[in-house]
Amino acid sequence: MPKGSYSFTTPIYYVNAAPHLGTAYTTIAADTVARYQRMNGYDVAFVTGLDEHGQKVADTAAGHGMTPQAWCDSMEPAFREAWDLLDITYTDFVRTTEARHARTVQRFWTDLYEKGFLYKGAYEGWYCVHEETYYAESDLEKDESGILVCPDCKRPVQEASGEENWFFKLSDFQEQLLAFYDENPGFIKPETRRNEVTSFVRGGLKDLSISRSTFDWGVPLPFDEGHVAYVWADALLAYITGIGYADEGRPGEFDARWPMQYHFVGKDIIRFHCVIWPAMLMAAGLPITHTVFGHGFLLTKGEKMSKSKGNALRPSDLIEVFGVDAYRYYFMSDVQFGSDGSISMERMVQVYNADLANTWGNLCSRVFNMTEKYFDGKVPAVAPPFADAPNPLKDIADALYGHYDAAMGAVDFSAAVAAVQRLAGRVNLYVEESAPWNLAKQAEAASDLAFVIYNSLEAIRIIALYLAPFMPKTSSEVFRRLGLGDPSAITDIGQAGAWGGLPAGNPVETGDALFPRLDGEAVELA
Ligand code: MSP
Repeated sequence: MPKGSYSFTTPIYYVNAAPHLGTAYTTIAADTVARYQRMNGYDVAFVTGLDEHGQKVADTAAGHGMTPQAWCDSMEPAFREAWDLLDITYTDFVRTTEARHARTVQRFWTDLYEKGFLYKGAYEGWYCVHEETYYAESDLEKDESGILVCPDCKRPVQEASGEENWFFKLSDFQEQLLAFYDENPGFIKPETRRNEVTSFVRGGLKDLSISRSTFDWGVPLPFDEGHVAYVWADALLAYITGIGYADEGRPGEFDARWPMQYHFVGKDIIRFHCVIWPAMLMAAGLPITHTVFGHGFLLTKGEKMSKSKGNALRPSDLIEVFGVDAYRYYFMSDVQFGSDGSISMERMVQVYNADLANTWGNLCSRVFNMTEKYFDGKVPAVAPPFADAPNPLKDIADALYGHYDAAMGAVDFSAAVAAVQRLAGRVNLYVEESAPWNLAKQAEAASDLAFVIYNSLEAIRIIALYLAPFMPKTSSEVFRRLGLGDPSAITDIGQAGAWGGLPAGNPVETGDALFPRLDGEAVELA
């Protein structure tokens, strides 16, 4: 019986550019959660997708001499292929140009219109197409030549004054939002982002323009046909489309899955998710997602990676060098989720060699080798007198689920990995201390030898189990070499992690090195 629903989202990505390491980062994080919570017995909904409307996409399409729809259709495969390559197990992939999503947008905004939360007026201010955001003149900056530019991306802005728009009465929600943040301290994480949002809301809120009438690449609003929904008034709703809102083919699903546990987003879009989105939900009378987690940026040489700066590597470039599991592992373990993190090929090679080649891969091949050599490739049985013998590996393994589960629940991926790596490090030391190669020379030490090898194999099983959400292919392979089925099929990871789960007599296969060492010099550096 599943424990219940565990649902969360990545942002839906603009299709003006191909997926890069930044967008892959959020997606891998969400997938790590998806895989873990499935192994923890939850019924997971993991929504991702594409943000296909808005002026930015329309302009990009025009720049390529294509219709917006043809452009979006041409970009979709790049995202699906990148996520397949990264072993992403999303449960729904929402494109905002789908008919089911238009139904969501139309139903949602018509409801708010009928409830009296919308009014029509003339917009006074500016618009940044790159950020797809409205700005008041007082928000803007000037570049060297005195041109008004966007405070976020520093690109020139367009004047939108006089545009007839529908407005959402966001300003009415200031007090309600502040009370909500107060009562739900876990809503915005990490803490620093929370302070940023509350002080922004305390400064006062302006009503939000939710429609555009000067161009038509969007979902038409049924109560005023000349208007299409503003891209953010459209995109945020993809989260509910992805769990069956306004979808008669999926009865009961929305009620079972809403509110969600998490929205994982980059820190640049935290205001949309922590101010506008909860206010929209309040107006609609819907409950609010438990937590918006704003992660940091990946930086290369101190700068945010982005397509426009030309420092955006493609995920496939790195997968070619490191393999998909090492890629996932590096970003989840070496960059603290929530903070900005510098990434580099040098560091990636270092982490790969230290954690994966020298520690984890090496441990597996050593212990599997000894099992082949001393026990004919079968998991040895532990003699009864040893059942209660002091066992440092069991002690660590017994405490592991508690630490790991707490870290994973708080999406502190690097802490979860560190807890598992402590066990791996201890097994390596244990093998050194117990020196099975000496025990093998003494006939009277046969039971000791079986004890040491069993413990090491069992610890390897447990390490592979807990690393499965991070490195699914490797963990499946380690399980296979231990004569076990796919760990991804497990639905009670805590129970599966209990000591003693590895059956004696199982065949053990050494196989090739899981992570052959990389020569840093030979890896082409970015
Ligand atoms: N379409 C909007 C989101 C709508 S959600 C209802 C959007 N799309 S985006 O494609 O521009 O960006 C998506 C996410 O990628 C953002 O969360 C952003 O923070 C993240 N990243 C883009 N570059 C990044 C890095 N260099 N590092 C980490 N994440 C970054 O915004």
